[in-house]
Amino acid sequence: MTLSNSPAPIGIFDSGYGGLTIFEKIKEQLPQYDYIYLGDNARAPYGSRSFEVVYEYTLQCVKKLFEMGCHLVILACNTASAKALRTIQQNDLPNIDPHRRVLGIIRPTAEIIGEITKTKQVGLLGTTGTVQSNSYPMEIAKLFPELKIVSHACPMWVPLIENGEHLSEGADFFIKKDIDALLAQNQGIDTIILGCTHYPLIINKIKRYTPKHITIISQGEIVGRSLKNYLQRHPEIDGKCSKNAHTEFLTTESADKFSASAALFLNKKINAKHINIL
Ligand code: DGL
Repeated sequence: MTLSNSPAPIGIFDSGYGGLTIFEKIKEQLPQYDYIYLGDNARAPYGSRSFEVVYEYTLQCVKKLFEMGCHLVILACNTASAKALRTIQQNDLPNIDPHRRVLGIIRPTAEIIGEITKTKQVGLLGTTGTVQSNSYPMEIAKLFPELKIVSHACPMWVPLIENGEHLSEGADFFIKKDIDALLAQNQGIDTIILGCTHYPLIINKIKRYTPKHITIISQGEIVGRSLKNYLQRHPEIDGKCSKNAHTEFLTTESADKFSASAALFLNKKINAKHINIL
């Protein structure tokens, strides 16, 4: 793979639409940068896929973004951050190009959690893949070993959102059921991490079924602030990020379908383009 060394957009990768909730907040913090958003919608959701498959698909997409010139790629997907990030950073990047960077969204979330919880009991909601990977408890334990994390997977939530059913009455049944299942594991939880990029879309319903004293954490702003800080600390990477305030949206599925559904996540119209990864 021959990679260009010229400044290029920041790559934002997600299995599909969910990363748009992260991208939106990154752009708020860093409006002057260029971005290429790549959604692997043709193969989404990743949430229930095996480690090997999530790793393989994520690596293919990261390589594609590198080929397009990106020096920095954000895995704006918890499942990909949980299952693929470490292997890509440790095994693949040194061979592809040790000067390029891939960052995830679990670490920035883990970094702030210890300052938010008072009871030191934290709940995590996410996809089956994210919960089974144990990535959040492991990452948080490195920084705040005194915290106790209880997790619960919500496999129905992403399909409800992607099918536009999340605001229907039927969705409430699953949202309440999963929150109850999380809280039943530990009465002392005072903080819940929404460890899936889709969940900010149902935050009002999540709040409805969660006791008022519990703080609900969604990741977008945390990731945006963390990336801004990272670029200030790493001028060698920042200098390779182009800054013309331009964003390109790419999807492995139909461009029209992506453009229509993206409006749900971004509250604005976009024009996506189709891309083949392989
Ligand atoms: N973006 C994924 C996440 O944050 C959810 C969607 C999927 O399962 O692909 O885990």
